[in-house]
Amino acid sequence: MRTLTKDIGTKEGETVELFGWVDTRRDHGKLIFIDLRDMTGIVQVVFTPGDKELHAEAERLRPEWVVKITGSVARRPKGMENEKVANGLHEVTATVLQVITEAKTPPFDLGGDGREINEEVRMKYRYLDLRRPRMRNNLRMRANVNAFIREFLGSRGFTEIETPYISKSTPEGARDYLVPSRVYPGKFYALPQSPQQYKQLLMVAGLERYFQIVRCFRDEDTRGDRQPEFTQLDIEMSFTNQDEVMGLVEELMTQLVKKLYPEKHLSQTPFPRMSYKEAMERYNSDKPDIRKDKNDPNELAFLFVVDFPAFEWKETEKRWDAVHHPFTQPRVKDVEDFKAQFKNNPGAILADQYDLVLNGYEIAGGSIRIHNPALLQEVFEAMGNKHEEVLAKFGHMLEAFEYGVPPHGGIAPGLDRLMSILQNEPNIREVIAFPKTGDGRDLMMDAPSEVSEAQLKELHLKTEKNNGTKGI
Ligand code: AMO
Repeated sequence: MRTLTKDIGTKEGETVELFGWVDTRRDHGKLIFIDLRDMTGIVQVVFTPGDKELHAEAERLRPEWVVKITGSVARRPKGMENEKVANGLHEVTATVLQVITEAKTPPFDLGGDGREINEEVRMKYRYLDLRRPRMRNNLRMRANVNAFIREFLGSRGFTEIETPYISKSTPEGARDYLVPSRVYPGKFYALPQSPQQYKQLLMVAGLERYFQIVRCFRDEDTRGDRQPEFTQLDIEMSFTNQDEVMGLVEELMTQLVKKLYPEKHLSQTPFPRMSYKEAMERYNSDKPDIRKDKNDPNELAFLFVVDFPAFEWKETEKRWDAVHHPFTQPRVKDVEDFKAQFKNNPGAILADQYDLVLNGYEIAGGSIRIHNPALLQEVFEAMGNKHEEVLAKFGHMLEAFEYGVPPHGGIAPGLDRLMSILQNEPNIREVIAFPKTGDGRDLMMDAPSEVSEAQLKELHLKTEKNNGTKGI
């Protein structure tokens, strides 16, 4: 039966079977030492010269070979113990060695934190890069955070619900990734920029408290804190208000840090709140970094930014657009009041929108939603959509709101950004198993890539090549 390296300390005097990778090999005269690595850690294995065949086989071992080793667990000899490392008091004296698979020499060192290695090479061989303890730890902590979130929200009556990935364009302000329909020539699905409309429709459905740890897709320029696909903790609640939504997220973050990151401290509790106007005036930023000591990696300065303007002027498109998204409730009394205020001074209308900022990064955005279909229609039209366009794009929302819609609102923390800050990483690629490069490529899979003419034909697509020659 397999023994994991983490349990070696409890097996003194016993024979164990170990499976894993050769982390390092050291020859000390006649003794050969290897560090054997599995998912739980490392243990030192010794090959003594007594068994010639075994010794000769051990001499062949190289880093990253996959092996099975049978041996007996013993205390290390006096003076050879190392209290500082796991299994530092024990070693396994090998009696049987089976090489399961050999390995080529990896293209880079897997032992250190890898920050000095060219990132494109790390991404091409991501499955090797993920062997380094720092990266494995990032993924493990991410899983722990997900588990904490599920437990926290589950115990507060939230239902985790999956929503479609192949869907329809939703206006979060970025470009859509489109998926051509094979069955309906010329028609396309869009990958959701967020589940915004679905979660609101789940409120119409009476679920009242929804969450989802969900992938979102936005075709926008990739940066340190941006990926074309990223993960949100998407939350929506009915019969709620701004204070309740912010309070819930504040409690979630506070407890999460306390439980999973006890070495970190919050600069201020309750989380301070600042109006957008004040943030811009004092910091010239809508996501100010208000840490007391910016050199302290364990300081977490959460800040809610509130009272955003509802609309901003888009010079390129010569129209007013929603600062958050068009479903956000502007602070108006009713449709007539909205019309009057919008005519008078659109830029002065505030919205029930809130962002959560952490150490200078926007880690969540949310709002209370418009639940009056007439007002929603009016807002869409104020943003330059024709009446018929609104019906074509959002008719399903307007119609749904005619069947008894509760007042509702929500928020969506970006989990990649949160994790990169909690793990003291400089960018979100370090907390994503398989991230894309700055120009949107997956170097390991070599995507995007060309597809066959047959596939294009089936999808009723013609492509224009860069060099000007036409495809099929
Ligand atoms: P918003 O667009 O503000 O809101 O997104 C919420 C949070 O998601 C994160 N985020 C990203 N993270 C990595 N890469 C990206 N490209 C990226 N884009 C956004 C940020 C951001 O704060 N549907 C609304 C939420 C709501 O109103 O409830 C929404 O998507 O941390």
